[in-house]
Amino acid sequence: MLSCKRILLIIGGGIAAFKALDLIRRLRERGAEVTPVLTRAGAEFVTPLSVSALAGSRVFTDLFDLTDEAEMGHIQLSRSADLVVVAPATADLMAKMAQGQADDLASTLLLATDTPVLIAPAMNVRMWQHPATQRNIATLRSDGVSFVGPGEGDMACGEHGPGRMAESLEIVAAIEGALADGPLKGRRILVTSGPTHEPIDPVRYIANRSSGAQGTAIARALVALGAEVVFVTGPADVPPPERVDLRRVETAREMLAACEAALPVDAAICAAAVADWRMATAATSKMKKTAGGLPQLEFAENPDILASLSQRSEERPALVIGFAAETDDLEANASAKRLRKGCDWIVANDVSAATGIMGGTENAVLLITATGTEAWPRMPKAEVAQRLAQRIAEHLAREVAIP
Ligand code: CTP
Repeated sequence: MLSCKRILLIIGGGIAAFKALDLIRRLRERGAEVTPVLTRAGAEFVTPLSVSALAGSRVFTDLFDLTDEAEMGHIQLSRSADLVVVAPATADLMAKMAQGQADDLASTLLLATDTPVLIAPAMNVRMWQHPATQRNIATLRSDGVSFVGPGEGDMACGEHGPGRMAESLEIVAAIEGALADGPLKGRRILVTSGPTHEPIDPVRYIANRSSGAQGTAIARALVALGAEVVFVTGPADVPPPERVDLRRVETAREMLAACEAALPVDAAICAAAVADWRMATAATSKMKKTAGGLPQLEFAENPDILASLSQRSEERPALVIGFAAETDDLEANASAKRLRKGCDWIVANDVSAATGIMGGTENAVLLITATGTEAWPRMPKAEVAQRLAQRIAEHLAREVAIP
């Protein structure tokens, strides 16, 4: 099951570190290659020698070990695995991860990686229950980090409750789950994301405030279910997702061309905030202030990518999904938009200021299809993406055979 899978195992500094030795043995029995990283505190509990003997590999410990940097830099080390596993994940390591700190090898690898991360927390029950740790857990979950455990029981410190690291075989099962092929394996899906920039002259452009966060979260969720994702993005604020076919564009017309070049796809999700207008003719040199008065800007309408994909007679994706951000009459406006554009589903959200959704981390959406409207409860944007990806997987499984 795990044969030839590459696991980067980060061993944090807790009494449960001794269980990591058994975990390494179980993983290797199943054919996995384990590259161990031992934190300074971890090395107080298990020795580098026993870790490397069991892993059959050298153990990495220090960010500033120049030999390591020459042979394999920390970036490459963080990305050469199929999965990064942190066991035990101490309260301190989780806090660093949630904060994005990078002050030793383990935390730097966790910040630099583009590989899925699974953590097995282990700490004293009070530390686990502390509001600070609970905040960190919520942050890590919404960053897409998976958890296994902790379990409840008697702890090495003599207390009882949640905080005990999951047993090796539970962690192995979670690793197998994280590496399993998902329900979108064999599906090719197009996602548009971010704003577009429409030039006025060589130095000025029309833009909008889209960060690209929702499109990026959707692409990540699709990849996690095994899809091959073509990610066409305008100049977004958030970094693009990992393991996608990335196509960067600037303007709406470039975005349309990139989308058309990506066809055929099983599904298209148009999450981009495409500028509706561009300059009829962008100036080729910088527009100067003149005594003649203010410049007159003449607009032209941009192509509507969602409508154009939805209304294709050839190579129309089997499922086309659009977004509608509304401030009034959410359901009526979004339903009308679905019909006007010709897409199959619309994900509608209320972006009036009072909802706090625009620029926030949570979203409350309506999923509008030909058969009706579903109201999803308010949840983190990453969860909206996961739920949507799951619905896409179910729909494609029902409606579209994999060739
Ligand atoms: N869209 C697109 N190409 C455009 C404009 C919009 O693909 N040129 C897509 C967006 O990606 C999104 C949906 O269409 O999926 C939003 O539609 P739009 O008509 O732009 O709606 P809003 O901007 O939400 O609202 P309005 O009704 O005010 O235009």
